[in-house]
Amino acid sequence: MRIHPHATFRVLALLTAASLPAQVVEVNLTAAPGTVQVAPGVNVNAWLYNGTLPGPTLRITQGQTLRVRFQNNLPESTAVHWHGQPIQLGMDGVPDISRPAIAAGQEFIYELRDLIPGSYWFHPHGHEMQLDMGMAGMLIVDPANPANDPAFDVEQTIVLDEWTNPLGGAFSGHLLNGRNSAGQLPIAVQAGQRLRLRIVNAAAENNYVFALDGHPMTVTHADGNRVQPVVVQAIPIGIGERWDVLVDCVNPGTWSFAVSLIENRNATVVRGVVQYAGQTGPLPAATFVPSNLATGSLLNYVQLASYFPVQPITATPNRTFTAAFAMSMGMGGGGMVMTHTINGQTWPNVTPFLVAHGDQVQMTMFNNGMNGMPMMPEYHPAHVHGHFFRLMGTAGGTANPPQKDTVLLRPLGQAGSSVTVQMTMDNPGRWLLHCHHMEHMATGMMTAIEYLGDADADGVPSRSDYEPMAPLPVLTISDQPAAFAPGASNTVRVQWTPNQLFALFAGPTELAPWVVLPGLGTLVLEPTTAAPLGVAITSATGMATVPYALPNNPAIVGLRVGLQGVGLLAPTNSLSLSTFQAMTAR
Ligand code: C2O
Ligand code: CU
Repeated sequence: MRIHPHATFRVLALLTAASLPAQVVEVNLTAAPGTVQVAPGVNVNAWLYNGTLPGPTLRITQGQTLRVRFQNNLPESTAVHWHGQPIQLGMDGVPDISRPAIAAGQEFIYELRDLIPGSYWFHPHGHEMQLDMGMAGMLIVDPANPANDPAFDVEQTIVLDEWTNPLGGAFSGHLLNGRNSAGQLPIAVQAGQRLRLRIVNAAAENNYVFALDGHPMTVTHADGNRVQPVVVQAIPIGIGERWDVLVDCVNPGTWSFAVSLIENRNATVVRGVVQYAGQTGPLPAATFVPSNLATGSLLNYVQLASYFPVQPITATPNRTFTAAFAMSMGMGGGGMVMTHTINGQTWPNVTPFLVAHGDQVQMTMFNNGMNGMPMMPEYHPAHVHGHFFRLMGTAGGTANPPQKDTVLLRPLGQAGSSVTVQMTMDNPGRWLLHCHHMEHMATGMMTAIEYLGDADADGVPSRSDYEPMAPLPVLTISDQPAAFAPGASNTVRVQWTPNQLFALFAGPTELAPWVVLPGLGTLVLEPTTAAPLGVAITSATGMATVPYALPNNPAIVGLRVGLQGVGLLAPTNSLSLSTFQAMTAR
């Protein structure tokens, strides 16, 4: 099997059934400025995914691959982070850690494999204002075996958010599914049904509590992970957290799904409505405070236990860390300056937590108030990328600890200001640990967890050492528009399986995907419009660089120019396509 450096390229590869690619679900996701109605008659300027607030709910079944064709039509670069999914680093959507940002006008295909069932969400990273301007959507993965989900009749997603007018306009307030209380359409149920709600807090700066008037809620999932059922009246939700709950609809009426700030359960800041069939009464007042919101039993992390088997808590972790989250006031720039620190450091001037592949790590995260004093109380929703952690000291004990990816640290001096977790380091890379409050994050409250090692043995622990061996070739392509101009020459860095042949192509469209020939399991790849740019063999650590030069022909200006790689996996010669990254040449 060879790759011929000709303009037309044909490969026949025999595949066994076992190596057939998983079923791929393709979706288009475009980020662009737009206008949305957040209250009756009130339009605001926003930056949106697919033109809606919140963005679309992306949904697949476990085992399927989600291929997201992302187009950046914003006036600046961006990246999409798949919050909570422990995916490979190259797809995690953190600019300059996962890969360069996606430049204005550029396309990138996120190929998301092995997604974990549950309720997740996506949002920009490294551009704190973008989340604030409306960019957030839910990602739902249904379990391959439906019996792994609880039974329900009706389902509704609820995205909580606040609108603070970063782009100007006449509205500010809290939103439920992109609308204030006056803009809510009731969730319709029938008596006797079981309602499943999937709730995410996508706000930039607010942690909430929610309750459904007249009904207790049964918590079934914490950050996508199924937990043993816990019945409560009200649930705190930190920024980035998700809760799935079941409601038994046994109390006919028209009811407020009321949301308050976590600091004050006596004021509803936005509400949705659950309405039983046949009910025609007026909707509950926007300001009505249900008694269970104000004083009902509040979910506490210590009540949680994992429903499915998980790695138990070990008495002998390989490494033990503490992470102190604190606000700090100091002099600087001619006045008082507020920063937010983890262990006294502000991003990017941080000492990362160093771990090794396979470690069991124990970490105590605690809210250290204002430099150790319980003044100006703040909440810190702490989030780790690329891994779930297991909460210690819960109803799950050491055998069934609940798994989460975000945990809300209550103010110093309150119960719940300190949380101890364990996590299995099974996803090599360089991963963020940060507070999900955008202002806290932007003023420094972020650090990194890095896998140790010098895998390429060049004597320098470097970026390539942090990256896993990838089943899917990962290209790192410049985020500069000039990299797609006529005559541009540049280098594409490839990360893939070691010692394999890899070829880079350019063309206006993607290479043809796999085609299964009936009876043979044979694939034909025939990119008649793509031109080969270069060939490389990946190193023993799976790295390669492929220099390329685009034709120095002004005719390509205005054309979509994409780069994509093809690997041939010895000895079966099965094909692996990288994602396609494109730009309009200028
Ligand atoms: Cu919701 Cu660092 O992410
Ligand atoms: Cu914080």
